[in-house]
Amino acid sequence: MRIDKKYLNKLINNVYKYNNKFNGNELKYVLEYLDYENPENDANSWTARLEEAFAQKFGVKYAISHNSGTSTLHSCLHAAGVGAGDEVIGPIQTGIWFAFVCLHQNAVPVYVDSDPDTFNMDPDKIEENITERTKAIIPTHMHGTPMEMDKIMNLADKYDLIVIEDCAQSFLATIDGKLAGTIGQMASFSFETKKHMTTDQGGMVITDDENLAVKIRKHAGLGYQNLTAKQGMTSLMPSQFQNPDFKRHDSLAYNYRMPEICAAIGLAQLENLDEKVARRVKIAAMYDEVLKGIDWIVPQKVPENTKSAYWTYTIKYLGKETIKIRKGKYKCIKFCPVVQTGRIFKTEEDLQVWISDDENKIPLLAKANILVGSIKMELTKHEGVKNPISKIK
Ligand SMILES: Cc1ncc(COP(=O)(O)O)c(C=O)c1O
Repeated sequence: MRIDKKYLNKLINNVYKYNNKFNGNELKYVLEYLDYENPENDANSWTARLEEAFAQKFGVKYAISHNSGTSTLHSCLHAAGVGAGDEVIGPIQTGIWFAFVCLHQNAVPVYVDSDPDTFNMDPDKIEENITERTKAIIPTHMHGTPMEMDKIMNLADKYDLIVIEDCAQSFLATIDGKLAGTIGQMASFSFETKKHMTTDQGGMVITDDENLAVKIRKHAGLGYQNLTAKQGMTSLMPSQFQNPDFKRHDSLAYNYRMPEICAAIGLAQLENLDEKVARRVKIAAMYDEVLKGIDWIVPQKVPENTKSAYWTYTIKYLGKETIKIRKGKYKCIKFCPVVQTGRIFKTEEDLQVWISDDENKIPLLAKANILVGSIKMELTKHEGVKNPISKIK
């Protein structure tokens, strides 16, 4: 059944509204993808176009698209040769993906505590966690603010470790003017719905190392023997692939490939990435301004040589107030964010930032020395509205 024209016009109008995060070329590219007769779809796949544009944006040789920012980390560990009994160092403050990807390699996740000011993994606590089994470090630029990579790279050199930057939250953040993700041997990005740019679900690995790129692509692409670092397969002669001894797959792998339609959306998102990051940075400056002089709310410290991409605006709460939510008591403050989105913050309750639980009621894999809360900063119609946060002063 065809879409009624009036309804279609309404949809198109909504898509191009200022507050819609898909108001760039997303619709155009998706329609081009859906156009059965579009010869470009075969000649130049959307994943290839996204990979090429992403690699160019970051000034690296290879970008390999995936279906999530978890599968990307898994492919990176595989490419790093992380195997049974190896140890991988990562931050205490991250999500379950870090533990899961290590365990899938039969490796051990080793948690390093947070720096109480930057809230990132404390670089000065990494060395004490290195053993002869340590194979890789995953510096994770949490909440958009990059880690100081020089200390990590020095340790990696000293102990011969592979560095995989997790940039899921830090698109276009910089360290000494270099883009986060271009310092370690590999970097992983997530395109899940709330990230700076999204393909709904998806991810990307970047690297300059061809050997690693081939391993990553094979890991994400069912281990086809003739996959290369760039998109496409090495072409084979019929005499090769029709040979009964021909091995189609030469490594154990998964299907972690990004769907073409997602890549079409991703390409349009990438075109506006600078603008999306700039808006978050602008919003963060508004929070900085209203929180000035409040000593019981301490924002994440952005080291001087770095620039944060502010995925969230993250704070440490030093106040005493607790309120009862569900079964536990939580230290809590209520924010009405400067920016709010119909999708994430539906009611005032949703605006609460939970800072800590009441004495370990939440089962944790490991406990950080500090607990922080984040305000999500989706870009929407309420941007700049009244600034109700100033009420808490
Ligand atoms: C720092 C970090 N790493 C990894 C991931 C995992 O990405 P995904 O949700 O796309 O699997 C996320 C995402 O939510 C993240 O924030």
